[in-house]
Amino acid sequence: MKKGIIGLLAFSIFSCGPSGNKPNVEIIQDMMEQPAIKAQKQDDFIENGISSRVPPENTQPVGKKPYAYAMDISKAMAELKNPLEGQMSSEVLFVGQKYFNTNCMVCHGQKALGDGPIKPSYPIPIPSLMSDKIRGWSDAQIFHVISAGQGLMGSYASHVPEKYRWQLVNYVRHLQQSQPELR
Ligand code: HEC
Repeated sequence: MKKGIIGLLAFSIFSCGPSGNKPNVEIIQDMMEQPAIKAQKQDDFIENGISSRVPPENTQPVGKKPYAYAMDISKAMAELKNPLEGQMSSEVLFVGQKYFNTNCMVCHGQKALGDGPIKPSYPIPIPSLMSDKIRGWSDAQIFHVISAGQGLMGSYASHVPEKYRWQLVNYVRHLQQSQPELR
């Protein structure tokens, strides 16, 4: 009789395996149940209900250095200097191309004409980086837009590490120089 009950118990536990949408039985729960909130989910603990919090003022995430000129474009223009100015080696351009194609191409397009694949569904015009305007910009100004954003374009500081941003600037320059007829 006892054996029968144990058998039934074992059957009822192990028969609910990970089939369909049913979760597996959690015999040892460890950290399966925890109060962590998923990004974008409602958080009733905080007054405004937004789980993705803005970091407290004057703090900086571990291992991240904030962009020094975020609020001051004229200081950026005066102090930033491209350490790779004019360097178009394949090492430099390969890195720049990688970051361009991963982060910028979707909007600005493969040839940076402002015609990326997102264009048909994007609510605002995307500028060409082949324009006379950007051809005339300094390297520092392009670096600044990548780091701090501009108007309706957000910052790409978290996508393009600071040490690879000049390579990306040079790649934009390479696109301009190799496509002199495009605007
Ligand atoms: C989600 C779309 C999007 C992505 C991705 C994007 N941009 Fe932009 N970019 C824009 C828009 C829109 C503007 C115009 C913003 C404004 O002035 O309000 C802009 C403006 C610029 C400008 C200034 C152009 C001008 O004529 O004033 C530069 C330079 C630039 N982007 C470079 C980049 C680079 C480099 C990347 C990749 C790191 C990038 N953008 C990624 C949408 C994007």
